[in-house]
Amino acid sequence: MAGEILNEAVEHYLEELVPPRDGILTEMEELAKRDSHPIVGPVVARLLALMTQIIDAKRIFEFGSAIGYSTLCFARAAGGGAEVHYTDSSPENAERAKEFITRAGVVSRVQFHVGDALTSFRKTRGGFDLIFCDLDKKQYPAAFRLAFPRLRHGGLFIADNTLWRGSVARESEEEPTRTMRKFNRMIYASKELLPVIVPLRDGVTVCRKL
Ligand SMILES: C[S@@+](CC[C@H](N)C(=O)[O-])C[C@H]1O[C@@H](n2cnc3c(N)ncnc32)[C@H](O)[C@@H]1O
Repeated sequence: MAGEILNEAVEHYLEELVPPRDGILTEMEELAKRDSHPIVGPVVARLLALMTQIIDAKRIFEFGSAIGYSTLCFARAAGGGAEVHYTDSSPENAERAKEFITRAGVVSRVQFHVGDALTSFRKTRGGFDLIFCDLDKKQYPAAFRLAFPRLRHGGLFIADNTLWRGSVARESEEEPTRTMRKFNRMIYASKELLPVIVPLRDGVTVCRKL
């Protein structure tokens, strides 16, 4: 993926600027690399932490959490009293995530849901300050439609991989490019949102609910 949105030298430069992570995040990054888990990585994790803190998000829902790297970043950034909902269809991923997040000392801030993330969302109650979408790319429009009514005004909907290796700019009809193009158009056409695609890594859409 490196070099497909930003040039490789700039990507490398941005990664170098991020200070070294603690032992647990480093272990998670190594595991993700070894077992090919597509985690957001340190550059995008900082953007997620910044957005969390700017709006003082406490109730956070993630669609697609894998080994819990982004979950841990949210739980730390949101601080005491946070409620971060982890979702993944893989029980093995959830087990690993729980182990890392427990060792990080923030497991009391996280609720784990194993199974389809949309079904898990329906089982929760109440509104959310921040919703992060990082599941199967073809499910982005459905996840957005389901989650949006329960995002508070002023809250953020954030979606990863929305430039999909730059393919969205090439009018490809292949999936998931086609769905991602449709999703981006839908988000930008909405009068209820203020969206910006931040071209970091694979593209991160940040939208504020007006
Ligand atoms: C890109 S990874 C998530 C990475 C994570 N957000 C991070 O940055 O640390 C996507 C994860 O979503 C899960 N997933 C995909 N579709 C799903 C669905 N419908 N319900 C639950 N999990 C799903 C996959 O198992 C995978 O682990």
